[in-house]
Amino acid sequence: MQTELANTINDENIEILVRTFYPMVLDDALVGPFFIEKLGDDIHSEAWEEHLVLLSQFWAFVALGDDRYTGHPMAPHFEIAGISRKAFEQWLKLFHEAVDKVYVPRSGAFFKEKSTDIASNFMRNLSL
Ligand code: HEM
Repeated sequence: MQTELANTINDENIEILVRTFYPMVLDDALVGPFFIEKLGDDIHSEAWEEHLVLLSQFWAFVALGDDRYTGHPMAPHFEIAGISRKAFEQWLKLFHEAVDKVYVPRSGAFFKEKSTDIASNFMRNLSL
């Protein structure tokens, strides 16, 4: 874990963000079960590792224009039974907390804005 908050965005601290966020998600009573259903409850499993790598690439694409992520961000969310606006709000709250653990406010603002925008799009597409 880094000791100082990051003031620039790079691959290394994006990975730290992702690896800070998902353990918080797993521990959360509202959002955790959706992930446990799909990936299990062991963050060290192969399935989770794939998700963490994929999500690091996703955020590197969003923040840095990196081209490793070629997935469909919205697709798996259509398959999640019982997903709700409340769950998305909690996801965002946790993500913003994770951002504050990794970035100074000026750099963190980028992730907070982007995640809020993307979550709004997802909710609109899911009619939530
Ligand atoms: C309550 C809110 C959310 C839940 C429960 C949720 C859950 C999930 C689950 C279960 C997967 C599939 C994991 C797998 O099979 O590998 C997934 C994939 C993903 N999620 Fe979410 N998610 C939520 C919100 C978000 C938000 C707000 C974002 C973006 C800001 C996001 C970005 C992604 C991306 C990029 C993927 C990978 C898509 C791909 O296959 O390429 N998720 N999510």
